[in-house]
Amino acid sequence: MCHPEALRLHLGRRAESSMEDSATRDRTTHRVRNRSRSQAEHMGLTSDVRVWERCMTQSPNSPPPETRHHEHNVAFDALFALSMAVGRGSTARRVVGVAELTSDDRVVDIGCGPGVAVRIAARRCAHATGVDPSPASLSLGRRLNAIGGTRNAELIHGSAEAIPLPDCSATVVWALRSVHHWGDRARGLAEAFRVLTPRGRLLLAERLVKPGVHGGMTVDQITNLENDVMAAGFMDVRRATLARGRRTMNVVLASRGLIS
Ligand SMILES: C[S@@+](CC[C@H](N)C(=O)[O-])C[C@H]1O[C@@H](n2cnc3c(N)ncnc32)[C@H](O)[C@@H]1O
Repeated sequence: MCHPEALRLHLGRRAESSMEDSATRDRTTHRVRNRSRSQAEHMGLTSDVRVWERCMTQSPNSPPPETRHHEHNVAFDALFALSMAVGRGSTARRVVGVAELTSDDRVVDIGCGPGVAVRIAARRCAHATGVDPSPASLSLGRRLNAIGGTRNAELIHGSAEAIPLPDCSATVVWALRSVHHWGDRARGLAEAFRVLTPRGRLLLAERLVKPGVHGGMTVDQITNLENDVMAAGFMDVRRATLARGRRTMNVVLASRGLIS
């Protein structure tokens, strides 16, 4: 169901966390709506935006709008994908910088969303593949690839738990802010290990959050993630911290090693 409160949580989460009064909330909602709307119109997603805007103008306590179930999912997924495509470049570039890509690398991005980091990688490596379970994100990402003329990248349907790629086909596997979405982390890490070549590099980036806050991992959760990475057979497990303003990204790095 396209409940307005759920949409606000997804599309205005960062801004809403710092809101202090309803006037600020209204201004922020307006800004998020206008930015996503113009992006969506540019990409031919206008009908999805109309459904989304109907949801956004409902008050949190009013009954949900009478829209068809299909419309709810399409609108929600399309606008969530747009929100991921806008303004994520700088974070992706910094995390990609940690990977120290070379022109020989073959990269797999698990939970790529609309592929912001895939396109950044594609400019620096031999080939980049994004994997994501969201059809809306894949569709938007493929359009952006086509618009940008990105030839050495593809976005494919799949999940961390079932990566539709052959064994030993990637020299780098990363997941930017997607591990906390995985349903089965052990399975996802086993899949990352399977698709990596010997000596392949793994990078798992998550925003640092306080306990009880969604959308990232706490310090303790990052430590658990490091332990899970070691348990999956990876070597040289270590952590990099990328701070920018009030935001901190933790990147868990590891190597696939030589032994299967
Ligand atoms: C917060 S977004 C991050 C997208 C992108 N990596 C970025 O940094 O902008 C999380 C992504 O994880 C994807 N996701 C959810 N469950 C997943 C799973 N089990 N395996 C892989 N990706 C998943 C979602 O579809 C979504 O695109």
